[in-house]
Amino acid sequence: MSPAKVFVTRAIPSEGLALLAAQVEVDLWPDMLPPPYAALTERVRGCAGVLTLLSDRVDAALLDAAGPDLRVVSQMAVGYDNIDIAACTARRLPVGHTPGVLTEATADFAWALLMAAARRVAEGDRFVRAGHWTTWHPKLLVGLDVYGASLGLIGFGRIGQAMARRAAGFGMRVRYYAASGPKPEAEAVIGARYADLDTLLAESDFLSLHVPLNADTRQMINAATLAKVKRGAVLVNTARGGVVDQVALHAALTSGRLSAAGLDVSDPEPLPVDSPLLHLENVVLAPHIASGSLQARTRMATMAAENLLAGLRGDRLPHCVNPQVYG
Ligand code: NAP
Ligand code: GLV
Repeated sequence: MSPAKVFVTRAIPSEGLALLAAQVEVDLWPDMLPPPYAALTERVRGCAGVLTLLSDRVDAALLDAAGPDLRVVSQMAVGYDNIDIAACTARRLPVGHTPGVLTEATADFAWALLMAAARRVAEGDRFVRAGHWTTWHPKLLVGLDVYGASLGLIGFGRIGQAMARRAAGFGMRVRYYAASGPKPEAEAVIGARYADLDTLLAESDFLSLHVPLNADTRQMINAATLAKVKRGAVLVNTARGGVVDQVALHAALTSGRLSAAGLDVSDPEPLPVDSPLLHLENVVLAPHIASGSLQARTRMATMAAENLLAGLRGDRLPHCVNPQVYG
């Protein structure tokens, strides 16, 4: 019997590709840019599996184009807002993702953005390179204390809790808000306290977003919620761009409601060249690289390959988003 054919939508780290190539026929999209939707539709036709990234749209039409041989969708990311999970479940297609293996790398990066925004690291770098630095001055690029400040975490799952552990070393008072309310077991270990969203917004010097993008979280940071934020707070977003209303964010950053922001994600990605956010000195921007440590990306590729292979064998995926497909 000929090996199953899978479409892999980008050149993932070689450890993951090697796992696949040993067992299945791999059709690899080699370009840096994602396959356009039409090409994706064409390439999945007749495949038994598809390995996707967060920039690939997986919807009902794509699943139908793939046809009846498709047995598994495996995403190399923990977030899966690009995938129509209901459409996959309706077709009894398991969807895999990569939780846990990128948690610490992502929290490290969120912390880097928090520090960079608070202490104006990127602005300082631009200042020095532009030749503007003439002398030490007591008022030059003065930022905000991180040590001893209050941190509000919106979302207190794997990455939110990893942020709270980092904050302990900075003597911060940590509060969190999560959909299902307080988490006494995590509180006991990590020392963070639950707060309702309004309290968290009003009392945090730093706010960091760690929720998935879904119907409930889309633009949960908007003009109304930003109006409740403590004046001069710093916002960090490593979750998804769609969680924040960027027009309201820009207004808050220019009015002083927020003193700075650190953004790894935006909506859309990349930001359009005429986005006003690109012109703000008090925004630190990154190209969605929070999980981008060599180790984390290697583990993500391996996990995505393992999920895909399990689905092809008809085994339960080790990390499945829609376990309802198993009945
Ligand atoms: P997770 O463990 O599932 O945690 C998600 C948290 O969000 C949970 O605490 C959950 O609450 C909370 N939540 C969900 N819906 C909510 C709502 N409507 N209101 C308030 N809280 C809500 O996920 P994770 O592994 O920490 O990852 C979080 C997200 O980070 C991913 O979905 C992805 O979008 C993003 N991410 C980005 C990068 C990057 O490179 N920038 C890397 C990794 C992840 P409960 O605990 O009550 O369920
Ligand atoms: C990255 O954004 C992920 O969801 O893994």
